[in-house]
Amino acid sequence: MSESSTDARREDEGTAVEAGTLATQRFSESGKLHGMDVSQERVSAIAGEAIQAINDVAVKHSVTYDEYNALKAWLIKVGTDGEWPLFLDVWLEHTIEEINSVERPGAIGTIEGPYYVPNAPEMATPATLEMREDEEGTPLKFTGSFKDTSGQPIKDAVVEIWHADAMGFYSQYAPELPKWLFRGVVLADEDGNFEINTMRPAPYQIPTDGACGQLIAAAGWHAWRPAHIHIKVYAPGFQLVTQQLYFPGDPHNEDDIASAVKPELMLEPKPRTDGGEGEEAVYNYVLAREGETA
Ligand code: DHB
Ligand code: FE
Repeated sequence: MSESSTDARREDEGTAVEAGTLATQRFSESGKLHGMDVSQERVSAIAGEAIQAINDVAVKHSVTYDEYNALKAWLIKVGTDGEWPLFLDVWLEHTIEEINSVERPGAIGTIEGPYYVPNAPEMATPATLEMREDEEGTPLKFTGSFKDTSGQPIKDAVVEIWHADAMGFYSQYAPELPKWLFRGVVLADEDGNFEINTMRPAPYQIPTDGACGQLIAAAGWHAWRPAHIHIKVYAPGFQLVTQQLYFPGDPHNEDDIASAVKPELMLEPKPRTDGGEGEEAVYNYVLAREGETA
């Protein structure tokens, strides 16, 4: 997938404002805002030091009024484009995820990103994700298992999976894609094994025509994430892990704009050995029980 052909297709594939507005709306409705534990003491400490850090940067670089006004206009545009979820998930979530997973044994996590949609169709294993007739790309058979930290198989484990298509677009965030394209909630079997048939996703460029794209262009950065499959895994009584899986050799594994790649999250796709077309890859999950720490 060349970078220019993704650019070409993006012209008629919706806008940053549409994707951003949907991501903002979904976040508001996500339930993440219910029962939040945010104390006045913590707000004062964190907001106070964040404001001080920005003031320190302004002093360090002798920020001009033109630069201050460009910042003000840009922050306003992040809001009107609905891009706060994109901005935060690209440039801050990786740190928050790291801080909050240090004590959890088992499978490694990474950022959720802005494009998760709950309540995707449930499927028993072996599952095939929804795709179009003649879906482009390389078929991928993704299999794996669930065990607890003592090596016992886990019952009733679930793999929630979502990823972009072979052009780098996510269903429900780009027009004309089937609603549940490449999204599913797959139930593992009695022994904790799963099989998911899908297509290898393409590298993904964060929207270039909104506020985040404007910042990237103004700074001379690039907008790419390596190809990735988003996953949430869980089972009753176990801690949920949100992660992404990546493909070796992707040019953006080393310079992911969202800083979300970790060596433990590399798949090793191989040609299929069962006579089927495409590739197969295995990822085995160890889940920690609720309250279990490293
Ligand atoms: C963004 C998109 C993704 O698919 C992802 O995994 C992380 C961030 C974004 O557009 O901000
Ligand atoms: Fe993504």
